[in-house]
Amino acid sequence: MVKEVKNLKKEQAAESAVSLVKDGMVVGLGTGSTAEVAIAKLSERVKREELDILGVPTSLRTEMIAIESGIRVTTLSEHPSLDICIDGADQVDSRLNLLKGGWGSHTREKIVSYASKKFVVCVDDSKIVERLDRPVPIEVLPYAVRVVEAQVRELGGAPLLRKDGTRGGYFITEGGNLIIDANFGVIDNPEELTVALSSIVGAIEHGIFTNVSEVHVGGEEGVEVLRR
Ligand code: A5P
Repeated sequence: MVKEVKNLKKEQAAESAVSLVKDGMVVGLGTGSTAEVAIAKLSERVKREELDILGVPTSLRTEMIAIESGIRVTTLSEHPSLDICIDGADQVDSRLNLLKGGWGSHTREKIVSYASKKFVVCVDDSKIVERLDRPVPIEVLPYAVRVVEAQVRELGGAPLLRKDGTRGGYFITEGGNLIIDANFGVIDNPEELTVALSSIVGAIEHGIFTNVSEVHVGGEEGVEVLRR
């Protein structure tokens, strides 16, 4: 029962975000369970309204789902400037900073979101927090993993190499890299931490996003749109 309510919130938020897509747009397609609901909603609109849009997927999984649901996909090389990007998030703080990367796709998600004129996130209200406090995913070159761990510790974080839940080994990203989940406790200043994490040698990208345009939040009372 609780799950059904949460799914309804996700669906409403995703539908609201997808309503911003217009005919002819190039759309960044995020990764994760909420992004997948958004792709399903977008697919419905494409069929119903005969929209001529192109999607830029942020993961192989998203690419396959988009193709299966009838959304034409393109590449970032062909379309390096996108109209809109729609994605989910793991946490959203009171200043609309995001934590992403629960599915290990945050590097591509960040690139696509920065390449988009508008970055729209859809979440259910369980993702809304006053301050970010979950571990920050950092994609890391395998060669540099111990060196990156040391730099995370110097910044006051506790690094944990992500395991693959199904196979028992380490989680490998689509780029062939590892993920360190770096626990900084409650993050008082995400803007400052983002600069520090971006300067770690051997790290490719981290999961704090400070560039969202608007967040569509599904709650008991419907959808609330939060803007910066
Ligand atoms: C993917 O790496 C993540 O950034 C997802 O966007 C995030 O984990 C949200 O996923 P859910 O929508 O499944 O909660």
